[in-house]
Amino acid sequence: MRLLILGGTRFLGRHLVEAALARGAQPTLLNRGRTAPGLFPAVEQLRGDREGDLQVLRGRTWDAVIDTCGYLPRVVRRSAQALRDAVGRYLFVSSISVYADAAASRQDEHAPRAQLPGDDCEDIPNHYGALKAACEDEVQRLFGERAILLRPGLIVGPFDPSGRFTYWVQRVARGGAVLAPPSPAYPVQFIDARDLAAWMLELLHRQRSGAFNASGPAAPLSFGGFLEQCRQALGAPAEFVWPDAAFLERHGVAPWTELPLYAGEGGRGLNEVSLARALSDGLRLRPIGETCVDTARWAGDAPLPEGIGLDGKREAELLRAWQAR
Ligand SMILES: NC(=O)c1ccc[n+]([C@@H]2O[C@H](COP(=O)([O-])OP(=O)(O)OC[C@H]3O[C@@H](n4cnc5c(N)ncnc54)[C@H](OP(=O)(O)O)[C@@H]3O)[C@@H](O)[C@H]2O)c1
Repeated sequence: MRLLILGGTRFLGRHLVEAALARGAQPTLLNRGRTAPGLFPAVEQLRGDREGDLQVLRGRTWDAVIDTCGYLPRVVRRSAQALRDAVGRYLFVSSISVYADAAASRQDEHAPRAQLPGDDCEDIPNHYGALKAACEDEVQRLFGERAILLRPGLIVGPFDPSGRFTYWVQRVARGGAVLAPPSPAYPVQFIDARDLAAWMLELLHRQRSGAFNASGPAAPLSFGGFLEQCRQALGAPAEFVWPDAAFLERHGVAPWTELPLYAGEGGRGLNEVSLARALSDGLRLRPIGETCVDTARWAGDAPLPEGIGLDGKREAELLRAWQAR
């Protein structure tokens, strides 16, 4: 399979390139050459800004394109128009954030999607999901049955720049008392980028169409189950302390950033999407412990992005306050 990847060098994209090479496919990357320049010297790389001139694509054809870096409908429309007659399928990497109701449980691919406040809205931080939905519409309109709209949940594993999953792995590895979210029963979903990448290629190989949620694991997982599997895989002497939601609120602990993966009741649905379609169409997921071990090995004790996780001092204060309540 000759594959064009718009992007390909940060996180999901680099796993896609590895998976494509492992499958015997021939990837070509289009990017600006800013992120990890020099990565994949043996792979064809086209230089270009997708927001600017797409001349570099002229006269070329591929079996499929995978778009990992589309956030604005105006920009996605340009690449979809430029590639409409040049590629077989267009796989757009969207997100489960497209769903209008982040709290609803077990939403499948037919659930209502978020709407933009206006056609000219390009406010990615505040309307990321609605913008992704509008990008999906552009690809769907131009590619019809040749469009795949992939909606991942939290993508995790080596090279994850967000630090959200990595926080828990590093924290469990350090051991001792770990401040966990309010309830061990709170659901959690995520997908190893390597499993996602392999399945994206499989969807193209199977010539699939339409929207797919993409997360894991296959059976419902609780936060307690996740942390315990992480602890066992790392062989770490960690103990988990489960405060209640009112305590965390009183102390101003921010869900999702300070306690990553925990999205509160308002974001519970992001940890509970339906995976029925994905699992019946070839999605295979590695054991959680393997993702934890590989992430720990990759991350070491490297610092996380600013604002992600609790720093040691704040966590210790919170633990003391919880014990003294
Ligand atoms: N992380 C999550 O948990 C999560 C969850 C759901 C969905 N998603 C989606 O998954 C995707 C993951 O992206 P990723 O960053 O891991 O992909 P990636 O393909 O590894 O990296 C992004 C690539 O896009 C290129 N790029 C950025 N702006 C560009 C431009 N204007 N023109 C050409 N190339 C450009 C970058 O290279 P240069 O900088 O060199 O141009 C880089 O190669 C995103 O679409 C995200 O919305 C993520």
